[in-house]
Amino acid sequence: DITLKKAVENNFFVGVAVSATRTEISSYDEVYTREFSSITAENDMKMASIFTGIDGSGNIIYDWSKIDALIAYAETNNLNVHGHTLIWHRSLPQALENFNGTDQEFEDVIEQYITEVLTRYKGKINSWDVVNEAIDDDPSTQWRNTLFLQRMGEDYVEKCFAFARAADPDVKLFYNDYNMTFDAIKRGKVLAMADQLKTKNLIDGVGYQMHIDYNFPSRQEIQDATDELVAKNLLIHFAELDVKVNAANDLTEFTAERSLAQAQQVKEIVEIFNAIPQQLKYAITMWGLKDDDTWLIPENNGRPEWPLLFDESFQKKDAYQGFLQGL
Ligand code: G3I
Repeated sequence: DITLKKAVENNFFVGVAVSATRTEISSYDEVYTREFSSITAENDMKMASIFTGIDGSGNIIYDWSKIDALIAYAETNNLNVHGHTLIWHRSLPQALENFNGTDQEFEDVIEQYITEVLTRYKGKINSWDVVNEAIDDDPSTQWRNTLFLQRMGEDYVEKCFAFARAADPDVKLFYNDYNMTFDAIKRGKVLAMADQLKTKNLIDGVGYQMHIDYNFPSRQEIQDATDELVAKNLLIHFAELDVKVNAANDLTEFTAERSLAQAQQVKEIVEIFNAIPQQLKYAITMWGLKDDDTWLIPENNGRPEWPLLFDESFQKKDAYQGFLQGL
């Protein structure tokens, strides 16, 4: 039988966001390993998940249990690992939120963190989102105002990439951000920053987070945004793909008609990705396996959603067929 990973014929990785807990559940394990060639931890490799404190000598205390479990899972099942994410303002350990040392001491902790994580997983994690969502949404502002900006200054992104490069020159370094396919101003800022990092050999790829809708952005917008990234000659990751069908809140259940429209959007995304020059294709990563796993639950999102490739019963949706058709 055809599977997603067979269908892509190793032209790129087809990834899924997982948790260490779910890899231990046989129904998930079966589909993860049957369909996908790459995993990303939805939460288990974030700083707040592994950085549990700072001891009296200024050394970081870690909980490696989940990340180690995922690495072992990937090794057993021959899966690529894309690390997500070293630095993100929304995943701060208590010890950093309450940090009362000097700015230099703060920066030293960040360097220690990046160095220790990359050193421990050298050769086991193929790529990392080094910094996630650092560019501001406001067109007139370059950097999002985060603890990292306040403590380390405007070159903090570059510093973090430099720490990562120094710790492991072989791991692929990505910058990852959202709204990249339709916010041309934000995308311009991201690509200009990526250019700067590239001139210093500090970056290998860019992730466009693909939290999109079945009818937005348009094919042309996504194509144009992709072409701009191709021109930068960096690896391309269509990251965090999920396709909302209910942004207008006009559905109380998933309909056959909307399902086909969603499949069409997935097909177009895959077609656009597949047409990227081979050497720049890195991965398409689904942001979860099945509809009831999505982060877009009513509590976060205000309404129900059905944004993924599998339904609650692990059955392939039309969107799954759309993915295959896009190849
Ligand atoms: O596991 C705990 C649970 O023990 C606790 O009872 C519960 C109560 O709040 O929280 C659970 O943790 C939640 C975790 O998801 C697992 O479900 C966190 O509160 C919640 O904040 C976390 O949300 C994640 C979010 O990032 C923030 O880290 C989402 O799952 C995850 O999909 C989302 O992913 C982000 C990407 O990393 C970056 N781009 C945007 C994307 C969507 O926000």
